[in-house]
Amino acid sequence: MNYDIKDAALSKKGKLRIEWADDNMPVLNLIRQRFAKEKPLKGTKIACCLHVTTETAVLMLTLKAGGAELALCASNPLSTQDDVAASLVKDYGISVFSIKGEDHKTYYEHLELALSIKPDLTMDDGADLVSTIHKKKQHIPLGGTEETTTGVIRLRAMELEGKLLHPIIAVNDAQTKFMFDNRYGTGQSTIDGIIRATNKLIAGTNFVVCGYGWCGRGAAMRAKGLGANVIVIEVDPFKALEAVMDGFVVMPIANAAKIGDIFVTVTGDINVLRGEHFKVMKDKAIICNSGHFNVEIDIPTLKKLSKKSRTTRDFVEEFVMSDGRRIYLLGEGRLINLAAAEGHPAQVMDMSFANQALSAEYMKKNYRSLENKVYKVPIDIDRRIAELKLASMGVKIDKLTEEQKKYLASWEMGT
Ligand code: NAI
Repeated sequence: MNYDIKDAALSKKGKLRIEWADDNMPVLNLIRQRFAKEKPLKGTKIACCLHVTTETAVLMLTLKAGGAELALCASNPLSTQDDVAASLVKDYGISVFSIKGEDHKTYYEHLELALSIKPDLTMDDGADLVSTIHKKKQHIPLGGTEETTTGVIRLRAMELEGKLLHPIIAVNDAQTKFMFDNRYGTGQSTIDGIIRATNKLIAGTNFVVCGYGWCGRGAAMRAKGLGANVIVIEVDPFKALEAVMDGFVVMPIANAAKIGDIFVTVTGDINVLRGEHFKVMKDKAIICNSGHFNVEIDIPTLKKLSKKSRTTRDFVEEFVMSDGRRIYLLGEGRLINLAAAEGHPAQVMDMSFANQALSAEYMKKNYRSLENKVYKVPIDIDRRIAELKLASMGVKIDKLTEEQKKYLASWEMGT
């Protein structure tokens, strides 16, 4: 078996941590039990480019139970949990190509190694795998799935330009994904990453959240819960209005830059924090990113503006400006929740990865009828996952009565 990981000796810790995640993923467990019996992915080669975390490991075990042959590489150079990679290789016989902190060249070599199995299907997070496939025009017989907002945006752009070479299911756009993973998962784990990196008290800080989309809502909500004065930055008037009515202060980044203590970018956009902002930030301002790519903070300009830098703690780089002010960049501007913490908790990834597993099965069954487009997760899959999750939490809900169904489908009855 081919693999490239940091150290196979880390597998014992990784296995225990995978088991912990597994215990917290009841929906994926149910799918795995069915997959083990029915083998819906028998003989299907899947190249996966995902954050190599304990939850991803549970997804890999589910796909393998379904009969798939797997190769896994990381979707971010800093998001790999080396002990998990070790356990997947040593305990579960799954090919993994990823090492935490790998450089740009190794990152892409690992993608190529995952693609060398000649996959029938791909699972991507951010669309680096699919864009690599498209650059070299590799044929993917069945299609692929995409995990995150930024990846879906890239793939929709490819579809619009008529460049998409195989169908994609946008897992991110399932309600049981973005409403929970992006909001509660990113919300909690982003704060977790900031705290683990800095050990700073969040209470009483001016906490600036750039972007009030699904992830930003979560980060703002959790920072508020810890007692921060949350300031929201937006470019969309609807989202800005929502933030105001959710009780947050909304202002332009030029104003917030002067008063913020901690800044988080979660926009999926480029250069949200840039030179003009670094010039006015307070001494000891902390800046980090939880959006998919490390382009939301203009790090090259930060480097140019600073007279020296040093690593002061794990995942904390101190930049000293020419006037002596210090700015602390966390996790090299990469997803802070995965760089400095462990990513989303298993309970929320349970739903995201249930969508992945069921979308792979759907694609295997239906690829002949799919065009080279970006598709939503079929609503019956999405709804079933919500029902299973509720059941796993012991929550029961009501059903419409026949009278209510009729009423809601009619127009005749008014005041
Ligand atoms: P979204 O589309 O729901 O929200 C993005 C928001 O940013 C929008 O409201 C948009 O108006 C705003 N925005 C765009 N440019 C801006 C600018 N220059 N200044 C201020 N606001 C701006 O997207 P979502 O789902 O919240 O995802 C955001 C990013 O986080 C994406 O890159 C996504 O891939 C990533 N993500 C990261 C996760 C993690 O584990 N850290 C998990 C899920 C998504």
